[in-house]
Amino acid sequence: RKEGRPNRSIVLVGMMGSGKTAVGTALAKLLDVPFLDSDHEIERAAQMSVSEIFARDGEPFFRARESEVLERLLSGPPGVISTGGGAFLSEANRALIARLGVSVWLKADLDLLWQRVRHKDTRPLLRTPNPKQTLADLLAKRMPHYEMAQVAVEAEPGLSIQDMAEKVVAH
Ligand code: S3P
Repeated sequence: RKEGRPNRSIVLVGMMGSGKTAVGTALAKLLDVPFLDSDHEIERAAQMSVSEIFARDGEPFFRARESEVLERLLSGPPGVISTGGGAFLSEANRALIARLGVSVWLKADLDLLWQRVRHKDTRPLLRTPNPKQTLADLLAKRMPHYEMAQVAVEAEPGLSIQDMAEKVVAH
């Protein structure tokens, strides 16, 4: 089933582990538009992984690149754009996304997020002595920002990636 193509980009926001990349890929297929991943675009331009960028140049440098990439992706033809978990914290990024796209928050609770990120080593922000606590703290701090998204879609444990993508389309 192919849906009508959106006339603005759909921008997925939410925590690490909320499924932005996986759901975004399925959603883009469903809508027949390109899938774009901001972390991936940053890595491609820098020729370094997100972890390497954080380690070498620091988080503020990463955030500046992230804003540039978002602006570039949002200025192009409509697609599904997956953002890094911190992207929607910036007021300027939120304004940009509101102007040129539609923000969709993939909402998930701490336990689900932790299940999904605990075995991975790709998140520099979770390299702490107690990563689950760090994740909980980030979630609490970020929630008020994510709540500013235009649409919220809840990621329940039983829902498949495809179910989630269809739930986004239904909005
Ligand atoms: C970050 C999330 C990561 C990546 C970077 C910072 C964050 O993206 O942008 O490690 O601040 O939550 P994912 O949400 O895709 O893991």
